[in-house]
Amino acid sequence: MLFVTGGCGFIGSNFILNWAGKHNEKIINIDKLTYAGNRHNLDSIKSNANYELVQLDILSEKSILELLKKHKPRAFLHFAAESHVDRSILGPAEFVQTNVVGTFSLLQANLEYFKTLSEDEKKEFRFLHVSTDEVYGSLGLADPAFTESNAHAPNSPYAASKAASDHFVRAYHHTYGLPTLTTNCSNNYGPFQFPEKLIPLVIKNALAGSKLPIYGTGENVRDWLYVEDHIEAIEVVLKKGRVGETYNIGGNEERQNILIVKKICSVLDEKVPLKNGQKYEDLITFVKDRPGHDQRYAINANKIKNELGWLPKENFETGLKKTIQWYLDHQDWVQKVVDGSYQNWVNQNYGDRK
Ligand code: NAD
Ligand code: TYD
Repeated sequence: MLFVTGGCGFIGSNFILNWAGKHNEKIINIDKLTYAGNRHNLDSIKSNANYELVQLDILSEKSILELLKKHKPRAFLHFAAESHVDRSILGPAEFVQTNVVGTFSLLQANLEYFKTLSEDEKKEFRFLHVSTDEVYGSLGLADPAFTESNAHAPNSPYAASKAASDHFVRAYHHTYGLPTLTTNCSNNYGPFQFPEKLIPLVIKNALAGSKLPIYGTGENVRDWLYVEDHIEAIEVVLKKGRVGETYNIGGNEERQNILIVKKICSVLDEKVPLKNGQKYEDLITFVKDRPGHDQRYAINANKIKNELGWLPKENFETGLKKTIQWYLDHQDWVQKVVDGSYQNWVNQNYGDRK
């Protein structure tokens, strides 16, 4: 039995669907169902006896401890978070609550539960914390990629809240002996990503004939990883990772934002050409930069490669094509997740960037 938090979000949904297809082991998914959580992502397994959704805030320490004692999982995988940098700039308080206090509550509940386990169960138990490369701060163009020994130097409220949660996870291992694992991954893309993040936002806007907003000059660099590869890395870390360690996960696919957007445009030109010879690139518009915008992220994934034998399977070109096809095939999914609150967000974030 596994417990997962945030399993109705982008990466969590992909993790649970992938796991359910491969293993005969039950997953209990604890999710508050915020704007980013969609229970229908898991409709294909909703009547599977190996899957159960519990709608709950991760701050509910007592209820989570009760659930742990009742179901006795062998591992707890923590995906739940407020995850969007721009939202953290406009409203940081929720990020402190969910990412910092929420992770702290889960650590407390897991430690209490851990104490009730037999020695054999304790040897097997793991608390796996899913984190981000953004905790390491920003790189210059010539800097070496982030390794696990880089100091945390977060720049956005999102990154600061994730860095704080990483520190609490570390402390619960060192001080109380909770068997933790932490993964710090680069930017993901793939099916079920909420259309506030760059790649699904650009696909959605392009198909609607709306502007494709690029912050600043578009020269900022991210290191992109297809979500399935991230999930496989998490599974490998859960199985073979050394307790108390952190593992960086990345695709070794650094790209400038402008090149990402142009690539999406060219794939769409092929798949769903515009009329009158127009090109999707014509929709690109440069807008006011994100405050404190990190220049570059890049992951050195040698540790997970050398110690655990993980390597990404998808390259950026093939992963992006699959992703675009998924969004073309699931425009109804996009329509369902973009309700009134999404439009309010778009107005709030993009309204004064002109
Ligand atoms: P997401 O925003 O798509 O999903 C977050 C999920 O957490 C949603 O289902 C939401 O309902 C749930 N949630 C939020 N607050 C909650 C609360 N208080 N209690 C219970 N559930 C709550 O996020 P994602 O992109 O799937 O990211 C998952 C994890 O991976 C996060 O911890 C994020 O920091 C990390 N991460 C993401 C990326 C990326 O590129 N998306 C890269 C590296 C690491
Ligand atoms: P995002 O997908 O929000 O991920 P993160 O900020 O966590 O890396 O953004 C990826 C990059 O794309 C980042 O450099 C900001 C930029 N960006 C834009 O240029 N325009 C947009 O509308 C968005 C959402 C992001």
